[in-house]
Parts: sequence; structure tokens; C-alpha cells
Amino acid sequence: MECALHGGSTHMPTLDVQRGPGASSNSRHFWDEWNRHRSPKYPHEKVIQFCFRHYPPEVRGQTRVLDLGCGSGTNTVFLAAEGFITTGVDLSPVGVASAQQKLQEAGLQACLQVADVGEELDFPSQSFHLILCVGVLECVDPETAARAVRSAHRLLCPGGRGLFLFASDRDFRVLSNPPLVHHGYTRAEVEQIFRLNFQQVWIDRYVTTYRGGQIEQYDWLVTLER
Ligand SMILES: C[S@@+](CC[C@H](N)C(=O)[O-])C[C@H]1O[C@@H](n2cnc3c(N)ncnc32)[C@H](O)[C@@H]1O
Repeated sequence: MECALHGGSTHMPTLDVQRGPGASSNSRHFWDEWNRHRSPKYPHEKVIQFCFRHYPPEVRGQTRVLDLGCGSGTNTVFLAAEGFITTGVDLSPVGVASAQQKLQEAGLQACLQVADVGEELDFPSQSFHLILCVGVLECVDPETAARAVRSAHRLLCPGGRGLFLFASDRDFRVLSNPPLVHHGYTRAEVEQIFRLNFQQVWIDRYVTTYRGGQIEQYDWLVTLER
């Protein structure tokens, strides 16, 4: 089964996905393949906007960022290039190796780890000023997503920020047959998952339509402050 929708976006993570028999978007094998052949080339516009808005060049060298589910490092490389102290973790060894190669080719540095966002991540509490998690929570079930957000809460410094972008239950990738992503979130699920003692949590929609509105890419954009 092939879904080939070629839009103008520079970052449409799960479009143009070819699925073989048994491929499941919550398996390591699936993501190894995706990271080998299909990861985006450019950072997500919301990542660029958020980083530039909140972190002027002079503070980036003291700002520790975690790219949660970094894949092949599209956003990680951007962060390192912009001067942030950057760490990336991903379930996929292929993704992490590819991120490492891109960093090396660009003469940049970041700390990379193969890790599951649903498990205890091996960093001390309050290690990061910023956590990004783009296109990842829809790859896991809500319980795993809740564990990932609890980790983010533990790992953020007081005043630290988070940006989470993930598919809603209305997103075409969830509604396609077979679904291209594992789980699309209702607003109630999002509220539940982020109900932790963050100082601020903003739950916004990030919606793009194609083919005159026939196809709706409908993400949640959650930005927060610890
Ligand atoms: C759609 S890609 C997004 C990658 C990257 N954030 C980006 O924006 O280019 C989803 C990534 O989530 C990773 N992933 C899926 N489940 C994961 C888990 N349980 N723990 C860590 N990473 C996971 C996959 O390996 C894949 O690299």
C-alpha cells in the first residue's frame, strides 16, 4: 500500500510512506526504514519559529535542548547549527546513526542516544532548558506518550520550555486505511497527558489542508513552560 501525497511542505513526516506487509508505524523496524529513506530534509517551521522567537543568538550557547524522537536529526542539526547545546534521542539506531553522520558532515556536535521515550531517560532531572518532540507522540500509544511527557516534566529546568507537535484524531494520516500513524489524539487525551504541574500549557491546533480541503493534516501544537 502506498500513500503518495506530494505537498509543498518541507516537513510532512508521514506522507509518502510505503508500507509493506506487517509494517507497523509503532515498530522499530518501520522507523529504521523511514529514517533510512524518508526523513525530512528541513527543520519544521514551528521549530524554527519557536527557537528564534524565544532564544536570541546570544543565549543559545547556554541553552541545553533535547530533541525527543530526533529521527535522522533534521531538527537536531538545525539546533546544533544555531548554537544550542543539543541532545537527541530516538528509538531507531538507523535514525541516530544518520543524525550523527549529518552532524559530522556539517562539522557540528550534539550528544545522541538510542532510547525509548516511554522509558526512564538517562539524564539527571532538570537537565534541559528546552525540549522538542516533533512527530513522535502519534507513533506511540497514549500511555507511552504520557510517560514521555512526564519525563519531559522531570528533565526540564524551572522556566524551561517544551514544544510538542503530533497528530490529532482528525488527521488524514490517522483516518487513512491503513492508518499511517499509530494514534491520533483527541483534545481530552491531550489535556489529560499534559495535566502536570507545568506553569503554562498552551494547546493549539496546527492545521494544513490539501486538494481544496479534501485532505486535512491536523496536528496538536502543545507549547509549555515548566
Ligand atoms: C515521524 S519521525 C519524526 C522524527 C523527527 N522528530 C523529525 O521531526 O524529523 C518519528 C520518530 O519517532 C521515533 N520514535 C517512535 N517511537 C519512539 C519511541 N517509543 N521512543 C523514541 N523514539 C521513537 C521514530 O524512530 C522516528 O524517528
